[in-house]
Amino acid sequence: MDNINYLIRKNILSLTPYSSARDEYKSNQGIFLDANENPYGNLNRYPDPYQWRLKQILSSQKKVGLENILIGNGSDEIIDLVQRVFCEPSADKIIICPPTYGMYKVYANINNLEIISIPLTEDFQLNTEAILMQKAKVLYLCSPNNPTGNALKNLEYIIEYFNGIVFLDEAYIDFSDQPSLVSKINQYPNLIVSQTFSKARGLAAVRVGIAYANEDIISVMNKVKPPYNVSQLNQEAAVKSMADEATFKSNVQLIKSERELLKESLLALEFVTKIYPSDANFLLVEMENATAIYNHLIEQQIITRNRSSVVQNTIRITIGTPRENQQLLYALQLITV
Ligand SMILES: Cc1ncc(COP(=O)(O)O)c(C=O)c1O
Repeated sequence: MDNINYLIRKNILSLTPYSSARDEYKSNQGIFLDANENPYGNLNRYPDPYQWRLKQILSSQKKVGLENILIGNGSDEIIDLVQRVFCEPSADKIIICPPTYGMYKVYANINNLEIISIPLTEDFQLNTEAILMQKAKVLYLCSPNNPTGNALKNLEYIIEYFNGIVFLDEAYIDFSDQPSLVSKINQYPNLIVSQTFSKARGLAAVRVGIAYANEDIISVMNKVKPPYNVSQLNQEAAVKSMADEATFKSNVQLIKSERELLKESLLALEFVTKIYPSDANFLLVEMENATAIYNHLIEQQIITRNRSSVVQNTIRITIGTPRENQQLLYALQLITV
């Protein structure tokens, strides 16, 4: 697939985007009487609509061009943006592979798109053949997957043969030993990789997500995104976090080692029947009476996520600090006695 233009909605292809005051005059030198801002205060100016400082840092770190990056108000905004660019409401379809992150489906419902569900196999891998038999505009893949925690196999084969956009959600990639596919965005014209500052970077409150894709896709997404979609404060927080790679790496390492310790301790509990392999910062734990145990933890003010409705008898436990994990274990150990 060389040209993805035929996948884009016609009204979006021909759309004249809003041209903001900051688009028309790009320097930050001068007397600004162009955007109806208030001349007083220190957050009185609209932020950079293209978040260039942040993109420059990401571009040199990930070794991709500035034109290959779009910044979103969290990756949730990007998930939605992709549907609005490619999918005609009440006409087009998307594919999801449950159990997976819930927002692909929620946005598809909001955007009035038909959802084709191709469940993961028993070992939580993709049903490649069934996926490639379908016709849809966007295929959402999540690796490492939420809530199962595992990295998906066979991704490149699917990206190569799927006749539509592949949205690869790498929200948890920094906790994984699998390589990111960001480096492949110029090899596969239909690939969009999304990442986020909310997980390994520890900035969920900041709401910054990133889409990496070839220039054609990014430029059309830029036309559709709201002009000032990422606040000045949020851009600054993301930029600042990128200056401290040492803390980032040591926190990720700590979370990964805590994940292994917690896994061992949980397996020692008699009511824990299985822990699914995790490449993420959480564990999907199968246990007898999962809902009762989830409720018991809530009573102790330890909040996990009951996933029993999507994977029978499971709760999803985010890896906390060593002390938080100890408190969780203590509360669980009391249940057995
Ligand atoms: C797989 C996945 N993608 C995206 C998100 C949302 O990320 P953001 O905070 O960047 O909107 C989440 C949040 O839990 C997630 O699990």
